[in-house]
Amino acid sequence: MRWLPEVPPDRTRPVTEKRLHSEAETVAFAEEFAHTLKPGDVVAMHGDLGAGKSVFCRAVMRALGVKDEAMPSPTFAIIQEYEGKDCRVAHMDWYRLTGGDELDAIGVRDYMQPPWICLIEWPGRAPELLDASTRHVKLACVDDDLEVRRVEVLTTWPKQA
Ligand SMILES: Nc1ncnc2c1ncn2[C@@H]1O[C@H](COP(=O)(O)OP(=O)(O)OP(=O)(O)O)[C@@H](O)[C@H]1O
Ligand SMILES: [Mg+2]
Repeated sequence: MRWLPEVPPDRTRPVTEKRLHSEAETVAFAEEFAHTLKPGDVVAMHGDLGAGKSVFCRAVMRALGVKDEAMPSPTFAIIQEYEGKDCRVAHMDWYRLTGGDELDAIGVRDYMQPPWICLIEWPGRAPELLDASTRHVKLACVDDDLEVRRVEVLTTWPKQA
């Protein structure tokens, strides 16, 4: 048999790429994604204002067993903590930050270890805090359709995040 050189996988290509036609489809996709998560995982949520990052995160948290009726946006608190079934969940929004120092000071790295699963909106504010094991999810509006989103799941920082 001829020896074939092994081609390294292209880690910049999305693992999954899909069109979501409604909020319900985003929720269903997020629930499926949640089942791939384990304590210690960090998920960076990319996308513009209103792309659906919080909708996605809330669906992930419900699928992880979070029972809280209210899941307020962490835009002002920066971190919201929840109890899941077999994990704790930290939902973060770094939108208002200008760098990682502030996050370091509030001990953000503790949430990137078991028993936590850490979901981060606006991760681009402090990319230096994220390592290569981070899972990346990118949501984007499609054309001018109010209901349709494109989702990509990646193992590296998305282009034009
Ligand atoms: N297919 C869809 N998936 C997700 N959200 C959708 C979809 N279609 C419409 N929406 C609406 O888009 C909005 C998404 O808001 P959301 O707060 O999740 O955005 P966000 O990305 O978290 O924004 P921000 O950066 O301001 O935190 C919601 O009002 C939701 O009802
Ligand atoms: Mg949000």
